[in-house]
Amino acid sequence: MEENKKRKVMLSGIQPSGDLTLGSYLGAIKNWGARADEFDCYYFMADLHSITVRQTPADLRRRTLEQLAQYIACGLDPEKNTLFIQSHVPEHTQLGWVLNCYTMFGELSRMTQFKDKSAKNAENINGGLFTYPALMAADILLYQPDYVPVGDDQKQHVELCRDVAMRFNNIYGDVFRIPEPYIPKVGARVMSLSAPTSKMSKSDKDPNGCVYLLEAPEVIARKFKRAVTDSDTERCVRYAPEEKPGVANLMSIYSACTGKAYAEIEAEFDGRGYGAFKPAVADAVVETLRPIREESERLLRDKGYLEQVYRAGAEKASAIAGKTLRKVYKKVGFVAK
Ligand code: TRP
Repeated sequence: MEENKKRKVMLSGIQPSGDLTLGSYLGAIKNWGARADEFDCYYFMADLHSITVRQTPADLRRRTLEQLAQYIACGLDPEKNTLFIQSHVPEHTQLGWVLNCYTMFGELSRMTQFKDKSAKNAENINGGLFTYPALMAADILLYQPDYVPVGDDQKQHVELCRDVAMRFNNIYGDVFRIPEPYIPKVGARVMSLSAPTSKMSKSDKDPNGCVYLLEAPEVIARKFKRAVTDSDTERCVRYAPEEKPGVANLMSIYSACTGKAYAEIEAEFDGRGYGAFKPAVADAVVETLRPIREESERLLRDKGYLEQVYRAGAEKASAIAGKTLRKVYKKVGFVAK
């Protein structure tokens, strides 16, 4: 009945297990901000997920608040988006437990992120790391979203979430909306500056490959100066991702920061080589990130404001999440309190 006037819902989260990068901004958060007028949007700091890998408590706490400040500075207006800290909304762990009981050992064993992370953390292959996709399914299904914007690396988890939701709906009727993953266009995928065939990742051990949102302009400039270009002999700025992944990555960053198309960029640097191109990319990135860094720093000095945002966010999130959770508890046979 209210179906046709209902706004579409979008939800995503990022783990505060590393500092946000240029890749997080250009590939994700920048696009999220543009959706707020069309969709009901929920974005959260996935701190519960972070502890599947050992964290230093003070760092986790600092990064969680920094991430919130950066979300806002990147254009996620807290009046238009629900911004919250995952651990503040207990429904996530509550539904997470239920969904654990509807997620199969075999399914979890096939997750490539589990295999990667357990190879990297051989001394700490804990139960949480293994069942993490069931918690992620709960994160999503609580809000009945239509779309879940995620990077390529999370697509498998969203597909598992869909499978679990369908399994549950098959047994109990229509409880969950089945969400679609929403993968951004290839152009927005930012690669490492030092290894341009792998994604720029906040958990990368090589800090030179990554540009962080709060980094000083001199540091950013230095990283671009050192960025790997390609060992071809032509040394010209030409978009050829297969042959010249380093240059293609810098071009896609430059394009995302300036709005210029690849052909325009090729013309701009025609005959000028990489020596002129790299500092131009660095400048474009510095100017793109400057207002974000300044606004984040300002917000981080205003702890009272951040507290108000995350409290209001958790309250709103919990009101929605609680409805789904109550329905689930009833369906599986728990006595109402
Ligand atoms: N697993 C995601 C990542 O590591 C973070 C995440 C947790 C998430 N819960 C989510 C993303 C729900 C989208 C929806 O990046």
